[in-house]
Amino acid sequence: MSEAPAKVILFGEHAVVYGEPGIAIPISALKTSAFFENNIHNAFSIQSAPLGMDLNYLELADDHPLKKLIILLMNEFGITSLPEKKLRIESAIPIASGLGSGAACSVAVIRAFAEEYQKSISTQRISEIAFEIEKIYHGTPSGLDNTVISFGVPIYFIKNQPFQFIQIKKPLNLLIVDTEIESNTAEVVKDIRDHYATFSPLIHEIGDISRTAKTALEDGDIKLIGELMNKNHDLLKRLTVSSPELDYLYEIAIEQGAIGAKLTGSGRGGNIIALVEEEDQLAYLRQALQNKGAKVLN
Ligand code: PMV
Repeated sequence: MSEAPAKVILFGEHAVVYGEPGIAIPISALKTSAFFENNIHNAFSIQSAPLGMDLNYLELADDHPLKKLIILLMNEFGITSLPEKKLRIESAIPIASGLGSGAACSVAVIRAFAEEYQKSISTQRISEIAFEIEKIYHGTPSGLDNTVISFGVPIYFIKNQPFQFIQIKKPLNLLIVDTEIESNTAEVVKDIRDHYATFSPLIHEIGDISRTAKTALEDGDIKLIGELMNKNHDLLKRLTVSSPELDYLYEIAIEQGAIGAKLTGSGRGGNIIALVEEEDQLAYLRQALQNKGAKVLN
């Protein structure tokens, strides 16, 4: 079975699109998997409950990201005829909620094809192909999602540069909390781009936070990490990418003992992450959030 994890952006979303650093970690508790099964019909078909898809490949719209991905893979691997099998895609990653569901789907499918056709492919190449598909989902992606999801390690990422692996000194006790509101990354990114002149000072400030956060993560300075998350959330709010629902979850998390919290991903929906100092505080925070009707994912 070919898998790919979800991701959360700890610091730097949006700013990373403009060359500032971003920091992201894989979340292996939430995964997408893809695998080939025998098909009773002699045809290549795709079945995926999370994508709401159960169809013959020939019915897949030409502009569907999955169609584009399969065409790229046929070129990459020199495939001339697709297998008379069913490609099954399963996923526990909520869609359009800032957790990298699109990139995880691409990476899992690339791995499933490599396995089915017994081709070796480097992780860098997997990431590059996934990036091509991210362009369809995101418009002008930074490359952060496909990189962290392909490599599956915490990364310090600057657009168009090789990523740096971050050795996180102390475990991060994080909860991921879902507004259950979908957000359209391409639209939000475009909106910020359209107002770049107004927002550029905020974008640079977010970059400074990521630079400081890298050292804080390497030093295991949990208090500082929490403080930087709060500052990053405030800047994202001023960047207009928060929402009443995200701010509501943020406020509850802080009231109930989180040392830091912020929205994660493109915003205006999707998730927040909340950090506590000690692992044994997680259960309390989870319960407090659930009592207020919040959906805690991990
Ligand atoms: O897919 P999302 O919602 O996690 O957003 C990606 C993060 C952005 O910085 C907003 C865009 C990008 O390409 O880095």
